[in-house]
Amino acid sequence: MKTIIIYSSYHHGNTKKVALAMSEAINAEVLEEVQAKSIDFSKYDLIGFGSGIYAFGFNKKMVDLIENANLKDKKVFVFSTNDSGSTKNHKAVLDILNSKDAKILGNFSCKGWDTFGPFKLIGGVSKNHPDEVDLKAAKDFVKNICDNNL
Ligand SMILES: Cc1cc2nc3c(=O)[nH]c(=O)nc-3n(C[C@H](O)[C@H](O)[C@H](O)COP(=O)(O)O)c2cc1C
Repeated sequence: MKTIIIYSSYHHGNTKKVALAMSEAINAEVLEEVQAKSIDFSKYDLIGFGSGIYAFGFNKKMVDLIENANLKDKKVFVFSTNDSGSTKNHKAVLDILNSKDAKILGNFSCKGWDTFGPFKLIGGVSKNHPDEVDLKAAKDFVKNICDNNL
């Protein structure tokens, strides 16, 4: 079983923390999206795509990477960090993955510290996230995918 986790994490490294915790839990390779441009996805049984949420969506470089990848029948999962820990802003990426006939096995999100714009004045929101509880949830999420699907 070969898994790779690709992340975009430009604000505080919140999503990188989640990606690293996931990779540790299931012994997956982990790469930033800029390092993943020439990846041959056919070599992998499972691919995770994660990003901070920036203006209601995934980072543009990550979206471009997904749009240009051959993911037909590939098992994939999606994750993010954001202000509220909601998966609601995953929709655009999930739509692209569906249009490429990828097999979406899961969708995970947790809170990530945000000091963008006026939030900076109050020390940010979702401070100290992702925390240990968030990282454990991320690990459980990927272990569960592997236990049930691979
Ligand atoms: C430019 C910018 C735009 C953001 N837009 C949103 C947003 O639309 N919704 C949201 O919930 N969080 C938003 N956030 C908060 C980030 O999603 C959150 O801090 C995330 O954990 C950042 O992940 P990173 O540290 O891996 O980059 C934004 C942050 C930045 C810097």
